[in-house]
Amino acid sequence: MSTVESRYPFSMPSGWFAVAESPDVEIGQTKAIYYFATHLVLWRDETGEAHVQDAFCPHLGAHLGHGGSVDGCQVVCPFHGWKFDGEGNNTEIPYSDRTNKKARIRSFPTLERNGFVYAWYHPNDEPPTWEVEAVADIDSDEFYGPKRWTQVVQAGIQEMGENAVDSAHFRYVHNVADVPEIIRYEPDGHRSYMESNQKFPTPRGVVNGQINSTADGPGVSIVRFNGIIDTLLVTASTPIDPNQTQTRFNFYVRSLGDEATNSSVGDAFANEVIKQFTEDMPIWEHKAHIVRPALADNDGPFMKFRRWYSQFYAGQSETETPVSVERTVFPPPYWPDKMDEVPGKGTASVKHGGSAL
Ligand code: FES
Ligand SMILES: [Fe+2]
Repeated sequence: MSTVESRYPFSMPSGWFAVAESPDVEIGQTKAIYYFATHLVLWRDETGEAHVQDAFCPHLGAHLGHGGSVDGCQVVCPFHGWKFDGEGNNTEIPYSDRTNKKARIRSFPTLERNGFVYAWYHPNDEPPTWEVEAVADIDSDEFYGPKRWTQVVQAGIQEMGENAVDSAHFRYVHNVADVPEIIRYEPDGHRSYMESNQKFPTPRGVVNGQINSTADGPGVSIVRFNGIIDTLLVTASTPIDPNQTQTRFNFYVRSLGDEATNSSVGDAFANEVIKQFTEDMPIWEHKAHIVRPALADNDGPFMKFRRWYSQFYAGQSETETPVSVERTVFPPPYWPDKMDEVPGKGTASVKHGGSAL
């Protein structure tokens, strides 16, 4: 169970979540990272395998990602030189003849696909029940990329995921004249598939396009846009804690031949997606989670999405008790920094407190 209290009626889902871009952690490197409300160390051993472990050395608590080093297939603590293997076993105490068998570090299952290092998170440390699917197009010469982008959002991962099935908001949040039409939404085990039609504005007029997305659990989604030119978006969303999420986007375009064209088309595609994401942010951050939303007939498949998503909380203590009947609205905390009028804050105090001494 997370030590950070959730502002939602659910905590963090289980699944594979990106903790780094593969090129950002080199052989022999250690990194301090923080996801799943946990301080973690990410390191890559001499065989190229990446490891994600609890950050704190069981000896006296040094952070292995701050000054720790890698020796072959072991991570070395910066404080007293103890060594641990990829499974978290103590393999050496340099000033003692014996190791300490009780000194173990929690190790997260990892796998590397699609340009990301993924860690498996489960609040009860249960083992993975699937693997992230590799997207073959990424490694083919036909696709150009990736162009990378990342953003931290003060909202829970499920709330952001729900955006995918919300077709009506495109008109109001993104100023899209024709909202995408969801023609198929199909949960299938830990995956879900969605197909929609959308009109894309281009300098040469509006073009009909299709969007196909596959969610590979709650943390990974592969989105293909067809119509103008084929583009591919690999998204990775990772809970920092129950209330904040880091999203990473890797954009690819089907190569049009020369590098300059690929790059400018890729930029235009990425900029549009990033613009829309940025427009969604204030909604996500300030919205309440409504347990029983009042929906219109032709709203997207929200409840289907939520039912699919609930499998990733299975067996978690926070969600074993169903949401109380008294409480069905879960608002964000009071953030003075984000309010328009706060006594004592910048403009407000000048306006109202100008004469006060
Ligand atoms: S704290 Fe890690 S070796 Fe002492
Ligand atoms: Fe959106």
